[in-house]
Amino acid sequence: MLRLNLTFFIALLRLRLVPITSWWLMPEDTKGDEIYIIYVIDAHTGALVDKPLIGVTASLEWATNNDGAFVYVTMDQTLRPHRAWLHKLGEEQSSDTCLYHEKDDTFSLDLQASESKKFLFVASESINTSFNFYLDVSKPEDGLQFLTPRVDGIDTSVSHRGNHFFIKRRTKEFFNSEVIACPLDNTSETTLLLPHRESVKIQDIQLFNNHIVVYEREKCLPKVTIYGLPDVEEPLKSLQGGHTVEFVDPIYSVEPSESQFTSSILRLDFSSMKTPHSVYDYDMKTGISVLKKIKTVSVGGFDASNYVTERKWANAQDGTQIPISIVYHKDLAKLDGSDPLLLDGYGSYEICIDPCFNISCVSLLDWGFVYAIAHIRGGGEMGRQWYENGKLFKKKNTLTDFIACAEYLTESKYSSKEKLCICGGSAGGLLVGAVLNMRPDLFKAAVAEVPFVDVLTTMLDPTIPLTTSEWEEWGDPRKEEFYFYIKSYSPVDNVKAQIILIFLSQLV
Ligand SMILES: *[C@@H]1O[C@H](CO)[C@@H](O)[C@H](O)[C@H]1NC(C)=O
Ligand SMILES: *[C@@H]1O[C@H](CO)[C@@H](O)[C@H](O)[C@H]1NC(C)=O
Ligand SMILES: *[C@@H]1O[C@H](CO)[C@@H](O)[C@H](O)[C@H]1NC(C)=O
Repeated sequence: MLRLNLTFFIALLRLRLVPITSWWLMPEDTKGDEIYIIYVIDAHTGALVDKPLIGVTASLEWATNNDGAFVYVTMDQTLRPHRAWLHKLGEEQSSDTCLYHEKDDTFSLDLQASESKKFLFVASESINTSFNFYLDVSKPEDGLQFLTPRVDGIDTSVSHRGNHFFIKRRTKEFFNSEVIACPLDNTSETTLLLPHRESVKIQDIQLFNNHIVVYEREKCLPKVTIYGLPDVEEPLKSLQGGHTVEFVDPIYSVEPSESQFTSSILRLDFSSMKTPHSVYDYDMKTGISVLKKIKTVSVGGFDASNYVTERKWANAQDGTQIPISIVYHKDLAKLDGSDPLLLDGYGSYEICIDPCFNISCVSLLDWGFVYAIAHIRGGGEMGRQWYENGKLFKKKNTLTDFIACAEYLTESKYSSKEKLCICGGSAGGLLVGAVLNMRPDLFKAAVAEVPFVDVLTTMLDPTIPLTTSEWEEWGDPRKEEFYFYIKSYSPVDNVKAQIILIFLSQLV
């Protein structure tokens, strides 16, 4: 759980139906507090199969291939996911087996099924550390087995194919991650598949029967690189001869979509600031991409060729180059300093705010606005160190980077102080509040959506959700140095009689 606008995810989770031969698992949250009831439903008749499970998270996966046992996760009083349970259909929730209890309140549990569907993985994660267990779906009664050890500062995520577990591992030294594999029967016998690189971050891996897809980031661009894998019986060697998927726009956003493990078709969700959401099927054998679907924009006579997207770089206080994504209408933006501009930012939790299609921006662009995203430190757009350099005692880089982007955009005549608007949600709302306190002269209007503006007070209270797990992000203000550092930027603690704000509840 992060300080994102959670409503969207809740809506997604509510709709997530997890199928098995003839039952569906349906998590439901009717209050919006992320405490779910799970219904087991007969896929053919829609009838309830079992007593609903109560007080659980939406994290759940089938644990067997055919006889209806599943794993779910429950949370403590602060809504921290802390216990993983095995439930058998027909049995009382009160007699379920607790598979693991994470007692450290800076860690939360996460659950994932392998693409091969042969294993379930339980991860225990803090902001800078994570370790994993596996459950063999063919013998759930064996319970969880250790897969990767708990070591401070080491973060692993795991996957399975054939006789091997595949592990993406970040360490202090290999901060942008490496990919290793180990045989199922000896997790300490590791083979290096893809080494660490200083300029390329490995964000995620996705396994197929014959391929491994590596989601990478280089110079603020997401990259999808595919390597063939040897037959499952063959030993694994370091990955060679990868090819990278090419896309139609120079700056864009790309995410994995649903694919079949046994297939050689990789399905991707693509969009850019001018190209609406598109689904591509990429044939990993031939390297050919096929556009299967593109979302239509049904109002306003939308034509992508009317819009221009650009990547520019602002010079931060310490000389670091900060990427900015920009879009405008080629005939309506004058780029002489007279255009209004909306600058968006986030910059926390290593999250990447990629330049994707945003329908609510189209009408702004058609009014002659320029829209820009500042890829400031604290986010993950430029690799792990981009994040490390914008958190804890370096959090102020996030704020000064944003100010540097705003200054760049006015100096290079994309807009002017009289026309510069900013927005950001959640941790991005913290950003908006903090930069308004720092530079009220620079912005004309600001929208802070569900803003996290009381950082100091919040982080001092471990009884409320998210505090304990986020001490590694903001620092623990019960320690004096963090107290004074957080206080020096925390928006509500720095309000002065100095600004006139125009708050817009909605932009369009
Ligand atoms: C992980 O975070 C904890 C708490 O902030 C810190 O004590 C520890 O040094 C961090 N480890 C690494 C490797 O950064
Ligand atoms: C597992 O692998 C390690 C490292 O290669 C080796 O030292 C150990 O003997 C192996 N264990 C077994 C049971 O084969
Ligand atoms: C879309 O743009 C609006 C501003 O028009 C912004 O508030 C919102 O966060 C953007 N959404 C995404 C998903 O980027």
